[in-house]
Amino acid sequence: MTPAAAILALLALAPPAALARDEGAVLYDTNCSSCHGIRGEGSNVAPPLIGKSAAAVHFMMDTGRMPAAVPGVNEIPRPPRFTQRQIDQIVTHVMSLAGERSRRSLPMLQAGNVKHGGELYSENCAQCHGAVGDGASVGANNVAPNLATATAFQIAEAVRVGPGIMPRFGTKALSDRDVDDIAAYVKDVETRAGDLNGANSGGLPLAHIGPAAEGFVAWFFGMGALLLFIRAIGTAGNN
Ligand code: HEC
Ligand code: HEC
Repeated sequence: MTPAAAILALLALAPPAALARDEGAVLYDTNCSSCHGIRGEGSNVAPPLIGKSAAAVHFMMDTGRMPAAVPGVNEIPRPPRFTQRQIDQIVTHVMSLAGERSRRSLPMLQAGNVKHGGELYSENCAQCHGAVGDGASVGANNVAPNLATATAFQIAEAVRVGPGIMPRFGTKALSDRDVDDIAAYVKDVETRAGDLNGANSGGLPLAHIGPAAEGFVAWFFGMGALLLFIRAIGTAGNN
C-alpha cells in the first residue's frame, strides 16, 4: 500500500464525528490557541475560554470579532473568517475543552411579535443602540454598533452573551419569547428603514458620535448604575 492509500484507508476507518472534532481542533489550534491557550486556559493577552457558553464562542466568530488580529483591540465587527460549518466545529471543540458535549446555550429562534418586541427594545436597547438600531457612541471608545448587519440569531446571542460593555440579559430579565420578539422588531425596523433610504439602512454607517458633553457625563453615570442593575438581574437569571 502506498502512503497515500494508507492515509485514505485510515480516514475511511475513522467515524465521521471524530473527524469533525479533529477539524475543529485543528482550526482552533491554528487560529485561537496562540492567544487563548491550547486547552482554552487563556494567556496574558486573552481570557480563558473554558466555561464560556457556546453562544459566546459562536457569537464572537459569527460576527467576525474573533480571531482577533491584534491582542487587546476592541474588535470592530468584520465579515466572519470561517464558514458556518467551521464555526460549529470550533464551538464544539471549545465546549469539549471544558468537558461539555452540548451546545445548548445557542438560541432557538422562533417567529416573534414585532409590536411587543418594539416595546422591549425601547426599554432595554434603544438607550445604547438608538431608537431604530442605528447605533450610538456609549462613552470612551465604546460604540453600540448599528444593528443593520446583525442577523436575528446574532441579536439573540448578543442579548444572552453581553459582548464588551453591553449588559447580559438573563432569562429572568428577558424570556426566550421576549428575545424572539426583539429580534423580529430589529429586523422589521431595518427592513423598513432600508425601503426608505434605498441601500442605506438608517443612520450613519458607524454611529452618531458626540452628544453634548455635560448631558453625556450625566447620562454615562446614570447608565453605569443601570448597567450594574441589569447585570445583577442578568446574573440572577444565569442558568
Ligand atoms: C490575537 C489574539 C487572539 C486570537 C488569535 C483570538 N482571540 Fe479571542 N480574544 C482575544 C482577546 C484579547 C479577547 C478579550 C477582549 C475582547 O473580547 O475583544 C478575546 C475574547 C474572546 C472571547 C470572549 C471571552 C469572554 O471572556 O467573554 C471568545 C469567546 C473568544 N475570544 C474566542 C476566540 C476564538 C474561538 C478564536 C479563534 C477562532 C479566538 N478567540 C482568537 C484575543 C484573541
Ligand atoms: C449599555 C449599552 C447597551 C445596551 C443597553 C445594549 N447594548 Fe447591544 N451592544 C452594546 C455595545 C457597546 C456593543 C459592542 C460590544 C463589543 O463588541 O465590544 C453591543 C453589541 C450588540 C450586538 C452585536 C452587533 C454586531 O454587529 O456585532 C447586538 C446584536 C446587540 N448589541 C443587540 C442589543 C439588544 C437587542 C439589546 C437590548 C436587549 C442591547 N444590545 C442592549 C451596548 C449596549
